[in-house]
Amino acid sequence: MSLPAQPTSPTVILTGDRPTGPLHLGHFVGSLRNRVAYQNDYKQFIMLADAQALTDNMDDIDKVRRNVVEVALDYLAVGIDPAKSTILIQSQIPELAELTFYYLNMVTVARLERNPTVKAEIALRGFERDIPAGFLTYPASQAADISAFKASIVPVGEDQIPMIEQTNEITRRFNRIAYKDILVECKALVPEMGRLPGTDGKAKMSKSLGNTINLGATAAEITAAVKKVYTDPLHLRVEDPGHLEGNVAFIYLDAFDPDQASLAEMKAHYVRGGLGDSIVKKRLEGVLQDMLAPIRARREELAKDRGYILQMLKQGTAQAREVAARTTDEVKAALGLSYF
Ligand code: TRP
Repeated sequence: MSLPAQPTSPTVILTGDRPTGPLHLGHFVGSLRNRVAYQNDYKQFIMLADAQALTDNMDDIDKVRRNVVEVALDYLAVGIDPAKSTILIQSQIPELAELTFYYLNMVTVARLERNPTVKAEIALRGFERDIPAGFLTYPASQAADISAFKASIVPVGEDQIPMIEQTNEITRRFNRIAYKDILVECKALVPEMGRLPGTDGKAKMSKSLGNTINLGATAAEITAAVKKVYTDPLHLRVEDPGHLEGNVAFIYLDAFDPDQASLAEMKAHYVRGGLGDSIVKKRLEGVLQDMLAPIRARREELAKDRGYILQMLKQGTAQAREVAARTTDEVKAALGLSYF
């Protein structure tokens, strides 16, 4: 993970989430933490991808609508500052749909079907042959999201890398058609530690798997989740040597414990034997409670004034729309679609 050195460069970052549920520690490690860090040095747009969420939630639009505000609360609670980052609502920027419409002619159905992110998500949702067309084609929509802001950096989890590759294919194809480098190629910025496993030890923390710890979790929810955290099934007695691979308690401590030096000692003790899971979990619980308590408090405070959140989203969306509209004008002009 390396960013261009000059902090004053006009490098643009675009990133986003589908607002289908509250954000959790997986989002935090995968991208939120980075976004909080980058907002000081880069122009950052953060998209609430509600329109994209509809591609598989057409039967529960209200869930998406409610989660727009919930996710915005999560953003502000973890430290995203609307004075530095522009938070926008995708569905309120019609130019994004307009760009998608053109880009759809620059990809083939076969290429969409081969996109590993799309393939994995189709499998996850069990669509088989009944794939909503909008779902299959959402790489074109994501290309529109990124290119509308001429973003060159996209902080995402590693599962989204094929989306970025396809965005760049569309960008190159478009620039070739336009005989001009109008759109900007982008780079995925993936966190070094990779994706955070779920509390149950499954590879991915995900709401549909029920193995998350949400950023707004109550103290009692954190306690309950830590109790269930998957450790080492071979570590039956305290004196047995423990294993660190796949041990979620230690993976979380690696990710979040501010005292990595004493953590290293604890790991050595665990591997040697003589250290029970309950002590490891106690430490994990302390780390998570300390980390999440201020986030939860801030979230509760902010949630009292939904008017402020909506106002902030309205402003961010208006600012973002100006940028997207300029790019769309350029794109249409380059395609020769300007008549008057
Ligand atoms: N597809 C992303 C997800 O599932 C959300 C998203 C939509 C996005 N548009 C984007 C991410 C543009 C990065 C850039 O989480």
